[in-house]
Amino acid sequence: MKLLIDDADTAAIRRLYEYYPIDGVTTNPTILAKSGRQPYEVLEEIRSIIGPDADLHVQVVARDTEGILKDAHTILRRLGGNTLVKIPCVPEGFRAMKLLKAEGVRLTGTAVYTAMQAYMAAKCGAEYVAPYVNRIDNMGFDGVAVVKQIQDIFDNNALDCGILAASFKNSQQMLELCQYGIASATVSPDVIDGLFSNPAIPAAVEAFTKDFEKLCGCGKTMDV
Ligand code: E4P
Repeated sequence: MKLLIDDADTAAIRRLYEYYPIDGVTTNPTILAKSGRQPYEVLEEIRSIIGPDADLHVQVVARDTEGILKDAHTILRRLGGNTLVKIPCVPEGFRAMKLLKAEGVRLTGTAVYTAMQAYMAAKCGAEYVAPYVNRIDNMGFDGVAVVKQIQDIFDNNALDCGILAASFKNSQQMLELCQYGIASATVSPDVIDGLFSNPAIPAAVEAFTKDFEKLCGCGKTMDV
């Protein structure tokens, strides 16, 4: 499963890129608004952090097909080749996807709450669809189950589309999808940090240090 950062906080992106094998970054208009910075200023900085080869998923804001096409072309002109244009899975979005796919644009169908939205986006040529796991959970349904259902639909209908599972609030949601072999997940920095927040982990490392220091002295390591 590829792991992407779902955020526009450039300090957090730099830190996570330094420590973990991260595969890209996703944003949406809400995430950009949270940054408080001008959209292309922050997106260009993200592109410079992650490099030209990493995937950067950037969402259109226009609601009509013509506007979506203009947003998409500007996003690609400003941010370079390995940028995927995120388009909401609504009728105008599907229409735009078909046109952009014909131009060879890489697409992510977003705002996915139902399996049939994902099916339609895949038919329109999206490379990824982004189902909103936690938002689906919050509506009283099972977000993880919807993602698995989408994966089964893609497999059983030979649809060449990956899932970019999104909207995570805890490690368990990620764990289940990783186990199921979902193509990728985009996750906020706090949820990525939470993957390793079990107190048993630092306690085990601390015990190793203490035992070694009993043997060799305080502050000693294997670099003797
Ligand atoms: C990603 O494509 C989505 O825009 C994002 O994950 C939504 O996450 P949220 O439910 O935390 O806003």
